[in-house]
Amino acid sequence: MRDVYRFRFGPTETMVIIQEAFPSREEVCIGNNGLVLCDTNTESIARTILPDMPYCVIPAGEMHKNWQSVSLMLQAAHKAGISRDGCFIAVGGGVVSDMAGFAASVYMRGVSFSIVATTLLAMVDAAIGGKTACDYCDLKNLIGTFYPASKVFIPLESLKTLPALEWKSGRAELIKTAILNRSEHILDRIAALSLEKQISRAVAIKGSIVESDPYERGEKRIILNLGHTFGHALETATGLGTVSHGEAVAWGIARACALGEALGNTPPERSKKILDLLSDYETQAPHPLLRNSQAFLDALYHDKKKKGTTLRFIVPAAQGVTVVSSDHIDQELLNRIIGITDSTAS
Ligand SMILES: NC(=O)c1ccc[n+]([C@@H]2O[C@H](COP(=O)([O-])OP(=O)(O)OC[C@H]3O[C@@H](n4cnc5c(N)ncnc54)[C@H](O)[C@@H]3O)[C@@H](O)[C@H]2O)c1
Repeated sequence: MRDVYRFRFGPTETMVIIQEAFPSREEVCIGNNGLVLCDTNTESIARTILPDMPYCVIPAGEMHKNWQSVSLMLQAAHKAGISRDGCFIAVGGGVVSDMAGFAASVYMRGVSFSIVATTLLAMVDAAIGGKTACDYCDLKNLIGTFYPASKVFIPLESLKTLPALEWKSGRAELIKTAILNRSEHILDRIAALSLEKQISRAVAIKGSIVESDPYERGEKRIILNLGHTFGHALETATGLGTVSHGEAVAWGIARACALGEALGNTPPERSKKILDLLSDYETQAPHPLLRNSQAFLDALYHDKKKKGTTLRFIVPAAQGVTVVSSDHIDQELLNRIIGITDSTAS
């Protein structure tokens, strides 16, 4: 199988290639010289495809998604003599591709960038759409840029070594994308589709949403944040790297269902269908690993998706999703949805 998509994200055209095998060096490398960026778990995959190139290998995991790693990437590029017409090649999951994209966007005011996505989560979400970032001041993705890769490779072969926990994390983003779609049959059939089809569908849906609002200026792209407002706050409040991104998103989707039901936006039967799909995940409130309610609320109100002091929550609707403003939600209801009973947390 080989599916190819072309998306226009602002001024950049991104080609996404979904295929069984790893791409060749010639396909991946754009320009005259290149730097491979990977982590300690994806280095062996990278060296198979891209031997004899300069490397920057960062320690694996969300706890290393920080400015220090981005700085290491920039130093490695300088050391390797990467020029303005060179390229950065990310081989890894969302942590590597988010930071490599960030580094590519600022190195010499922007060099070519391609991604070989090696986790399910990166294939269906992180590698598509041009959001780059690293965590900063203990807050998730606080700094970053919009800088889409020109080429994104999705080699299904790389999933053979993916640990079970990372499959679970990626599957949450697949379910999220299916909820966004206004035609309910995608959600109804998600379990019946082959993995290739599920990935291909998710890429097509995410790509078309991002094309319609590449810089998240309107109300279109923001729907991709379903589950993320609650999820990012959970990741931050439990300590970055404690709850995987996908598991946090799954919990966040469950909270969005509870909020949507309370506000009358989410029909209970749709909530039930979504919660059934999330039955392998922790969906109860409070989350068992959440020890500090105030830290959760602090992280929630730092959310990048807020407009002024108003938060915008994405909740499932009868079809697709809808955006609700925190101006219509009182703190008591929000505390109940998150499972906060501590009266000092407000
Ligand atoms: N830019 C976006 O639009 C966007 C969207 C969603 C998520 N994200 C970000 O993506 C990150 C999560 O991505 P992730 O789940 O891919 O995490 P990750 O990059 O940390 O990968 C998860 C783990 O799997 C390992 N790994 C990667 N590929 C492997 C393979 N083929 N075989 C064995 N091990 C492998 C990694 O080394 C890591 O230990 C978060 O930081 C999140 O904020 C970004």
